[in-house]
Amino acid sequence: MPDFRPSSRIPGFYRLPLDQRQAELLSQAGLSPDDLARLSSGGLAASDANQIVENVVGIYALPLGLGLNFLINGVDRLIPMAVEEPSVIAAASNAARLVREGGGFAARADESIMTAQVELRDVIDGAKSAAAIHSARADLMALADTTLPRLRERGGGCRDVEVRALPNRRLVVHLYIDCLDAMGANMVNTVAEAVAGRLADIADAKIGLRILSNLCDRRLVRVTGRVPHAALGGEEGVQAGATLARAIEAASLFAEDDNYRAATHNKGIMNGVDPVVIATGNDWRGIEAGAHAFAARDGRYRPLATWRVDGDALVGRLEMPMALGTVGGTLQVHSGARLALRILGTSSARELAEIIGSVGLAQNLAALKALAGEGIQRGHMALHRRATGPKP
Ligand code: MEV
Repeated sequence: MPDFRPSSRIPGFYRLPLDQRQAELLSQAGLSPDDLARLSSGGLAASDANQIVENVVGIYALPLGLGLNFLINGVDRLIPMAVEEPSVIAAASNAARLVREGGGFAARADESIMTAQVELRDVIDGAKSAAAIHSARADLMALADTTLPRLRERGGGCRDVEVRALPNRRLVVHLYIDCLDAMGANMVNTVAEAVAGRLADIADAKIGLRILSNLCDRRLVRVTGRVPHAALGGEEGVQAGATLARAIEAASLFAEDDNYRAATHNKGIMNGVDPVVIATGNDWRGIEAGAHAFAARDGRYRPLATWRVDGDALVGRLEMPMALGTVGGTLQVHSGARLALRILGTSSARELAEIIGSVGLAQNLAALKALAGEGIQRGHMALHRRATGPKP
């Protein structure tokens, strides 16, 4: 990555005509006119699309906008967002500006640990088989590593093995693989298939399914954002900000107490997460599956982000799985996805997770601020009208 530090604070950007916004992107992100031409035509040639999936007949495009004002772990980031819903990008940018006034987002992603699952069936003595697998832990990890020599060379590989009992004489074995900057689905599936035979021998059992789990609960991102009451109140002042902060806290508590509300609260978070996942060529179905399984991990569906008043500020916290790649997969072929990473200024999967988690928290703040204040329809529908209404 070039050591290029754009400013994410570009006042009046939304008022500029399209060509001037593009010129601003070029200068901020150090892109060339060729890069821009690629972005303007969707970032993917039909001939490249033909290499990615089967039966290709064309390309389906989405608008690509820039989320602004994001300060994440002290670094300014321009956020490419591919999304069809009006108001999402404006809302994220507004919320990021508020969090910026509280010092920006503080985000921390786990190492890139993915879970390979091997199901074992017809287990005769579960406790004995589990103990045998535990005893063979080091051998199993070494066997897993032999299937991923290039990952091992770069410092990744198998980190742990765990066994759980399931009903109906089954065991499920988890192998935890550090996939570094890859999302890792293919590597993890390779491991699951490669070790299954050995596991079945050790456990005296039959092989069941061998596949990754999208509940990537060892690959979480945690983000905190703080908004001073003064920033939240804006021109209406600090008292108005304190009142709004309490209303946002109440909106968070509603989601914490009610799974119907939690589903919509989390949809608002995914409004921020998915557009960046899509723009960077990542698997948004995997991210969605992981997010919702994690939200329901203790048997009750919960919000992925919560908000509390803390002294003279409103503080938000988000925690969710974030399994992303900055190498391999679609990125090899999709020049638009590679450009999105350049605009973001990262080649690290963990940093990308920290960025996307921050966008999710910003999007949630924007939604709760609107819902707790004037309601969602005024701003949201004005932008919808812009997209769908009659042209003057
Ligand atoms: C709309 O796409 C998303 C919201 O419904 C999220 C929320 O209610 O928190 C506004």
